[in-house]
Amino acid sequence: GMVRHYKFNVVVKRADRLCSTKPIVTVNGRFPGPTIYAREDDTVRVKVVNHVRYNVTIHWHGVRQLRTAWADGPAYITQCPIQPGQVYTYNFAVTGQRGTLLWHAHILWLRATVHGALVILPRRGVPYPFPKPHKEKVIVLAEWWKSDVEAVIDEAMKSGAAPNVSDAYTINSHPGPVANCPKDGYKLAVRPGKTYMLRIINAALNEELFFKVACHQLTVVEVDATYVKPLRTDAILVGPGQTTAALLTTNHSTGKYLITVSPFMDAPIDVNNITATATLLYSGTSKASLVAPTTPPPKNATWVAERFVGSLRSLNTNTYPARVPLEMDHSLLFTVGIGVKPCATCPSGIRVVADINNISFVMPKTALLSAHYYKTPGVFTDDFPAKPLIEFNYTGKQPANLNTMSGTRLYRLTYNATVQLVLQDTGMIAPESHPIHLHGFNFFAVGRGLGNFDPVKDPRKFNLVDPVERNTIGVPSGGWAAIRFRADNPGVWFLHCHLEVHTTWGLKMAFVVDDGEGPDQSLLPPPSDLPKC
Ligand code: C2O
Repeated sequence: GMVRHYKFNVVVKRADRLCSTKPIVTVNGRFPGPTIYAREDDTVRVKVVNHVRYNVTIHWHGVRQLRTAWADGPAYITQCPIQPGQVYTYNFAVTGQRGTLLWHAHILWLRATVHGALVILPRRGVPYPFPKPHKEKVIVLAEWWKSDVEAVIDEAMKSGAAPNVSDAYTINSHPGPVANCPKDGYKLAVRPGKTYMLRIINAALNEELFFKVACHQLTVVEVDATYVKPLRTDAILVGPGQTTAALLTTNHSTGKYLITVSPFMDAPIDVNNITATATLLYSGTSKASLVAPTTPPPKNATWVAERFVGSLRSLNTNTYPARVPLEMDHSLLFTVGIGVKPCATCPSGIRVVADINNISFVMPKTALLSAHYYKTPGVFTDDFPAKPLIEFNYTGKQPANLNTMSGTRLYRLTYNATVQLVLQDTGMIAPESHPIHLHGFNFFAVGRGLGNFDPVKDPRKFNLVDPVERNTIGVPSGGWAAIRFRADNPGVWFLHCHLEVHTTWGLKMAFVVDDGEGPDQSLLPPPSDLPKC
């Protein structure tokens, strides 16, 4: 493959949204940042120069980083941050991957505005497994706060309470007209009788989003850079960190149609923060009146979400066969949840915490990957439990025991070990779904359900034939999702909720995968410009 060179200048830029302006951290002064294009098996080199007062790292979400964990990007997991004035070049190959991914800052809450698309085209001469679209459009969904995002989370962490929700969602950086600020939103210009591929990316910090186009159906062909059997749908659900490529056929001759993005939440916290809008604009019809969706936002969003997510199937052709592990070396059960613990300095006397298997993860002061590589003692332990420390039984009510411990505990895997991981949501405070992201792997989503996972009955219903491959899976509120993967990538790999507030509260852990015996089964040495802590 080719080498693709990019330069990311991390700079502050003033931006005007919701009829007020504020400074935001950006890449190259753009929000969203530049799209990275590559082809399968190319090498990507991105030189990141930090011109802001914050520490920065960039993560290439969904890129497997085979043997190149040093380029993965999560701060204090695989690298020390790029400090103000410093430079680091991320150098990685996109081996055996093609499709839509995203990149984003992976430190503090900088991801709010430091993000963009990463599009990997098939190898030259290799067609898509669906009719070639007339045009491709990248659509990045995000959130906008009127105030400074870092201040929002700092304040919340001091008080122990939940942070303020955003003031708007955005579609390619614009909310569309909202009350008291009737500004135009993003316009998607199309010609009639054509098929467009929309590469939809959810870069929002804290909200899964439904995406709809009035009077047009969408055909999903790819999620998280893996092909799926074409799925026709009215609405797409895309969680933070997830991507969905969908075909849209312009089967009207004229008109203006509303594109809507609305949150998936059974009980919206802030009713003003409901919808972002954009316009699908047929050529020559800018004077036409806008057609809004005829169906209102779903009442039982959980049901709509489960039906959509549960319908995705791997394309599973001979070209991209599913290789679902059938024999398990590790069978893990991880509870994911939100709880509270006493807090003397908090105004309410309690602090919100989040955990996996009752352990709220503590970020180390130095990078775990370096500690692993150089065998530095005292940075982490490898005793992360295979099942919850406190026995869990979902009853639909808040469990009596909300104890969480804290620690920097990892789960160790030998090279090529097979893993089944059942993620069980404990639904402790509010109904919500957790988009759980595993770095370094694509996993097979073999099963999901509501209520308690049943270790005897549920595995009998697993799809081991054509389960969708993903890097981020929504674990349903009060339910579970089962994934399988093979530990064929040495390094330290973060697993966390991609709702940034939950990660901040501690809903995260990491796997450490040892080197294999073979010549190409070990982590490569660190690059010479790797930042130091
Ligand atoms: Cu897209 Cu660890 O994140």
